[in-house]
Amino acid sequence: MAKNTRTSSTKRSAASTATQDDHSLLHDLFLDELRDIYWAEKHLTKALPKFRKATTNEELAAAFETHLGETEEQIARLEEVFEMMEVPARAKKCEGMEGLVKEGQQMIEETPKGTSTRDAALIISAQKVEHYEISAYGSLVQLAKTIGRTDVADILAETLEEEKATDQLLTELAISSINIEAGNEDEEDEE
Ligand SMILES: [Fe+2]
Repeated sequence: MAKNTRTSSTKRSAASTATQDDHSLLHDLFLDELRDIYWAEKHLTKALPKFRKATTNEELAAAFETHLGETEEQIARLEEVFEMMEVPARAKKCEGMEGLVKEGQQMIEETPKGTSTRDAALIISAQKVEHYEISAYGSLVQLAKTIGRTDVADILAETLEEEKATDQLLTELAISSINIEAGNEDEEDEE
């Protein structure tokens, strides 16, 4: 007989606090994440030439070269977003990207030059980077939408698609040739 009416009023008060304005905490979080990926992309423009130098596979070298060009465009896109948000373009150190790049350099040191095994390692490192970026841009697109900036979300979504395409290309290079060639190498082939 006694009906519980408290649930609906609790829901109503929770909903009323979910409105967004320019000074919301979520808005600040969005800007913070933007600064993080801005640092990450800039850091990557220094790392990609090293990845490129470390491979003797022409297709993989071309993929790194192409992505370097894309990364430079992505940086310009982020600067456009900062401008649209009416804040200066500022980078904030991204520990995640720094760690991933370090790990990549370590993989280069640990694999013999000129082997497909090194190429396979480079692909693993590059895909870890891409997955980090896919997560970052995926979150940024959603946050932009939530704070009512679909104009900004559309720009970030372009980069998100590029990162996904790069990830896909790396998978194809790995499974169509590099991993297979690496599978035929053994430790005696070294040096
Ligand atoms: Fe990127």
